[in-house]
Amino acid sequence: MSINPTPLQRARDYEREQAERLPAGDRPLYHLTPLVGWMNDPNGFCHYNGQYHLFFQYHPYSTAWGPMHWGHAVSTDLLHWTYLPCALAPDTEADAAGCFSGTAVPMPDGRLMLAYTGVQPAGTFRQTTQAQCIAVGDGTNFEKSPLNPVIRQSQLPDGFSAVDFRDPKIWLGDDGVYRMVVANRHKDKAGTILLLKSATGFDWQYIGEIDASCQAYGQMWECPDFFTLDDTQVLIVSPQEMHAREEFHPGYGTVAILGTFDEAHCAFTRRSIQPVDHGLNFYAPQTVLAPDGRRIMIGWMDNWETCKEAPRRHPWYAQMSTPREIFIKNGRLMQVPVREIESMWTSTVSHEAVISTETSLPGVSGRMMDMTVTLHPDGSTCRRFTLHVAKDSSHFIKIQADLARGELVFDRSRGGSRRDIAHTRHVLAPVENGRLTLRLLMDKESIELFINDGERVVTSLIPTPLSADGITFTADAPLPVTVEAHTLG
Ligand code: FRU
Repeated sequence: MSINPTPLQRARDYEREQAERLPAGDRPLYHLTPLVGWMNDPNGFCHYNGQYHLFFQYHPYSTAWGPMHWGHAVSTDLLHWTYLPCALAPDTEADAAGCFSGTAVPMPDGRLMLAYTGVQPAGTFRQTTQAQCIAVGDGTNFEKSPLNPVIRQSQLPDGFSAVDFRDPKIWLGDDGVYRMVVANRHKDKAGTILLLKSATGFDWQYIGEIDASCQAYGQMWECPDFFTLDDTQVLIVSPQEMHAREEFHPGYGTVAILGTFDEAHCAFTRRSIQPVDHGLNFYAPQTVLAPDGRRIMIGWMDNWETCKEAPRRHPWYAQMSTPREIFIKNGRLMQVPVREIESMWTSTVSHEAVISTETSLPGVSGRMMDMTVTLHPDGSTCRRFTLHVAKDSSHFIKIQADLARGELVFDRSRGGSRRDIAHTRHVLAPVENGRLTLRLLMDKESIELFINDGERVVTSLIPTPLSADGITFTADAPLPVTVEAHTLG
């Protein structure tokens, strides 16, 4: 223990001391949790010196949000994570009220650059303000730039906010010039995403606006990501205060806007817009380009509304989603679990069955599973097919497909919650080419449901006791299904 430690040293000392005390074994199998305390957004997702690095919004001292630090973990397969010491703590004038979300990018000289939002404390009768900061390091220790904040609101045209100005995502262009997209709240247009450029990473030039909510898709937009995928330009944002519309539920959302981008004129043209995830717990995703060319996305497997009411059963709170490979198909952003998950399959059972009254299938149960259920409704009069998972005599999670409407309901109201928060989501789930596929990843207290090979995804936490591990299948008329269930270990 150091005497008069800096805030960073204090966090690192605390982590070391807690690591020795924490009970082993109650964490999810492969979803990243913070070593101790609170976690929200993924930050600085990158591949550096042969490893994936994932930083995250972190408050080590309690399971509630507090002064934001950056936690840190590394992995070679995106599933088994090793903690590294806390990377950033709020300890300079530029970030005294918190080190908010941002990115990491390997520099041409071999160092790793972090870009993050520094939050400055409120003066009398004023709100905190936000500006963008840089820290550079070797992948474990980072030195904050004396030039911080390197981007202030005063460098932007009129109308942009100093209060809501956050979450820089940076990347190095093929021309050796850094780009940054960053979120702001414009006085007329609400959430807006700005583009800036820099030759060095320290002096940034405002280029223009990429897109804005204009009150249509939420108010403030948080955590932008902007990248090319196949021949499409993708903008991902996480809006606050959305109205329900199209396929979007109200509240905190995740939006992917697909289009084309003319960088010379900073002109982004929308082609389509869709939710990234339809579940109850998914927010602030970030992507990385893997060395093999895959674009991989990970999100905070939570939501600002539901996290307030979620039980605190562990000395850590919150999990990241399964990392997902994303791609474009038929004009949609698709996502599938990273193929590395197959290395965690320990045993497999397969069934072909005709389902009618509620049945379980031999060998199909558990809370750590990768299970694909394919429905073959052609020639069947079945309208409703229901999957109950995490089931015992008093609990279940219900996943019910209405084959006639092409819609699915995810319902965790009988999953053990005592809280009056959203527990159900409706999502389109059409039968395509004579089948509907449901791939479920279950890892103790979470379910991620990939519909039709990743066309739509429903991600949700479940508070259900782990002893509830039954799985049953029910159809209102005989329905042929195939099931392939892999136990994860
Ligand atoms: C999104 C967010 C970001 C911010 C961070 C603070 O979940 O609100 O906009 O940087 O969390 O922890």
